[in-house]
Amino acid sequence: MDLGIRGRVALVTGGSAGIGLAAAKSLAREGCDVCVSARNPERLADAVVELQEFGGVVHAVLADVEDQEAAFRVVAETREVLGPIDILVANAGGPPAGRFVEVSLADWDVAVQRNLLGTVRLMHAVLPDMRERGWGRIVTVTSRSVREVIDGLALSNATRSAVAGIVRTLAREVGGDGVLVNNVLPGPIDTERLRELGGDVAARGKSVPVGRIGRPEEVGDVVAFLASERASFVNGISMLVDGGESRVVA
Ligand SMILES: NC(=O)c1ccc[n+]([C@@H]2O[C@H](COP(=O)([O-])OP(=O)(O)OC[C@H]3O[C@@H](n4cnc5c(N)ncnc54)[C@H](OP(=O)(O)O)[C@@H]3O)[C@@H](O)[C@H]2O)c1
Repeated sequence: MDLGIRGRVALVTGGSAGIGLAAAKSLAREGCDVCVSARNPERLADAVVELQEFGGVVHAVLADVEDQEAAFRVVAETREVLGPIDILVANAGGPPAGRFVEVSLADWDVAVQRNLLGTVRLMHAVLPDMRERGWGRIVTVTSRSVREVIDGLALSNATRSAVAGIVRTLAREVGGDGVLVNNVLPGPIDTERLRELGGDVAARGKSVPVGRIGRPEEVGDVVAFLASERASFVNGISMLVDGGESRVVA
């Protein structure tokens, strides 16, 4: 299936590793010009080399989504180099781990900046061009914690649900302008984040009905589909990509 996004301009934040890099690759493979942003310059440079293999224009911007100005700077620079942004993949690292009684107020600050306000600011920054041009796709990457709270991840449980609420809200406001907004909820995926959270990664797959944890590209391809022309009647959803692990009905 041709996703119909050849020549579109995509910005993927947190795009130097894991799910973000996989999404950037899926979009580049479909013919998008891609800007990736993240904080570590070496990893970002390596990601650019990998993305260039797909033949489109690739740009990178060093930025921390927790920084108030970063979203607007990243969007302005992407626009200058690649043109107005058609596709935003709002992604970053996960929030600090811990039970509610363990996490500090400083941890709350990090989570709210990284996983809530970072996304809100990016949405604000890309929307004017998308609405004016009558086409846009925003895909947020959050977590299956939106459907089923995860013990020991209090900040994820709180901030991801807030993003899911914003996605539903914004989707209703701008769908009529041709801008579709959706959310992807990964289950356990083989990335640094999963290892960072500790536990036995090899054993983790046993609780997943498909019998293994997911690969980053299995989320990246779903992101690319939701960002595509083919997903033109999908708006406001939060889609699980968790190998069937969550027990929720819908
Ligand atoms: N992997 C899983 O099993 C899983 C499950 C559910 C949800 N998720 C969520 O999915 C998202 C992506 O996870 P992942 O597994 O791909 O993580 P990852 O492998 O740790 O990659 C995170 C990416 O985001 C960048 N990043 C981190 N903090 C950032 C910040 N403050 N500003 C800008 N860029 C930042 C990282 O690069 P720099 O460090 O260089 O900035 C890297 O490119 C996270 O929100 C994670 O919590 C993951």
